[in-house]
Amino acid sequence: MKFFLDTADLDEIKEAASWGAISGVTTNPSLYAKIGGKLSNFEEHIGKICELVDGPVSAETIKMTKDEIVEDARRLSRIAPNVVVKIPTMVEGLAATHQLLQEGIPVNMTLCFSVTQAILAARSGARYISPFVGRFDDISENGLNQLEDVVAAIQNYSFPSVNGEEVEIIAASLRSPNHVAQAALMGADIATVPFNVLKQCVQHPLTDRGLERFLEDWKKVEQA
Ligand code: G3P
Repeated sequence: MKFFLDTADLDEIKEAASWGAISGVTTNPSLYAKIGGKLSNFEEHIGKICELVDGPVSAETIKMTKDEIVEDARRLSRIAPNVVVKIPTMVEGLAATHQLLQEGIPVNMTLCFSVTQAILAARSGARYISPFVGRFDDISENGLNQLEDVVAAIQNYSFPSVNGEEVEIIAASLRSPNHVAQAALMGADIATVPFNVLKQCVQHPLTDRGLERFLEDWKKVEQA
């Protein structure tokens, strides 16, 4: 399973990239607003992210009709060759994705909450599908069960996207290392994680305790 970083924060991306940990970045309007992003700087900012990451960078459209989405997607895809256009799972989004497939523009279909949405997204030609986990948990549903169903359904078939590449599942809205571990066990292709979750994924109390003991014991060696 690959890791994408779910952020628009350049410092977080630089740090995670230096670990060799991330294969891409996902952004959305909320994440751009969170870093105080301005409309006039949006394209420039996405361009900076694209330079920092050797992999796909999702930039989301906020347009609502097929023609507007397609036009916006063309604009976003001109920012850099590694831009992937993020489009919400809705009828106009499916139609736009189908058009963009003909133009070779990769799409990450976002806000996916069901197996049927995922299959339609894949059928329309999306390069990535993003089922959300945490937001199901927010409404007292089991987000991991939903993700598992989507992964199983998509793996039953072959869904070629741009350049003949197979559709990939991005487990999104992940809030904890357990979400990430379960996504890996069920065979999600990619986990997109906020930086705090990525850091938590490295940590384990037994690693800390073991390291403490090694350092203490090494003092005995130095003193012997
Ligand atoms: O990639 C989607 C993600 O940003 C949504 O996460 O925590 O806002 O549900 P969250």
